Amino acid sequence: MVSDTRLALPLAYPVHVGRGLLGSLGRLVTEHAPNHRYAMIADEAVARHHAETALAGLPRERTALLTVPSGEASKCRDEWARLTDGLLAWGAGRDTTIIALGGGVTGDLAGFVAATLHRGVPLVQVPTSLLAMVDSSVGGKTGIDTKAGKNLVGAFHDPSLVVVDVEVLRTLPEGSRREGLAEMIKHGLIADADHFTALCGHLPALAGAGGHELEVLPALIAESIAIKARVVAEDARESGRRQVLNAGHTIAHAIEHTSEFAVPHGAAVAVGLVVESRLSEMLGLTEVGLAETVALAVRRAGLPDGPPASVSDDALIEATRSDKKAREGRVEYALPAGLGAMDRGPTARWSRPVSDDDVRSALIESRRTAQSPLG
Ligand code: GLY
Repeated sequence: MVSDTRLALPLAYPVHVGRGLLGSLGRLVTEHAPNHRYAMIADEAVARHHAETALAGLPRERTALLTVPSGEASKCRDEWARLTDGLLAWGAGRDTTIIALGGGVTGDLAGFVAATLHRGVPLVQVPTSLLAMVDSSVGGKTGIDTKAGKNLVGAFHDPSLVVVDVEVLRTLPEGSRREGLAEMIKHGLIADADHFTALCGHLPALAGAGGHELEVLPALIAESIAIKARVVAEDARESGRRQVLNAGHTIAHAIEHTSEFAVPHGAAVAVGLVVESRLSEMLGLTEVGLAETVALAVRRAGLPDGPPASVSDDALIEATRSDKKAREGRVEYALPAGLGAMDRGPTARWSRPVSDDDVRSALIESRRTAQSPLG
């Protein structure tokens, strides 16, 4: 059965969440991002399952499909150049709307193509992973990775439309769905204790086989998007409040970096949320017990709750220095101040510098209490 809800959000563009929406994509695109030409940039694995349905309502003779290999390696200058050259050779002008069909890699890459082609053409985000649905498709961040790190070259470029079809999660592996659950737990932790509690009750079912079929899933996704949208509406360019979306991410990026990106983003975020909650407890910014509440949630989602045994605390601390949130050489953390609330920090920038000794203590305590740490 097809369902379609246009969310009431403080954003300039519509976000639709429902089931079976890919079949209506042509209508939604021509209503909200009408143009002469349409270019769909799709993850090649996603395209095999969904491109035909997604393209059905668009004018065949004025629509192109460009695919990109699945995986983070596609988020690079070479793919950006190949796509933009291909689009220009096809005749794409300012009269072209780019449609991103895929997970976060495709959305960020296609978004950067849209941000830079003719200095910016309209973009439609059609996220197909849970992580992209609740996080990267909303908020206008686009970009590519370089040798120096992830997302270091990019642009803010808001989409004209976001279409979330929960049905496409059917073709996603369970592990990948768990990645998105980590970001949903984060949304509850940073802004909404009720969302956290409601989500917690459903986590084991959402993480398991058939989790994508749960009736409550579209509403939980919509709630997560609404939390993100409220933050982004307040601070689109990440000069203040948007930092709260980086909760758990300083430690997560260090884990990803030291594992050479073998640890998936969602698993790293899960551990980061636990460690940074512990850090917040140790600094007296929140009451004791928060880290255990977060650890319980991530375990319910089948995610790890402690740092990898194979990486030392010193190596993790060293890796935090390459985090892009570091300011004037000091590593910054966006820390929880309780369930559903974040610390504003000493200068009201929603993050604070933390000493290596405090981070080390939080890592040691997190390792001691972890029940299912990363291997
Ligand atoms: N994923 C964090 C943000 O959009 O700011």
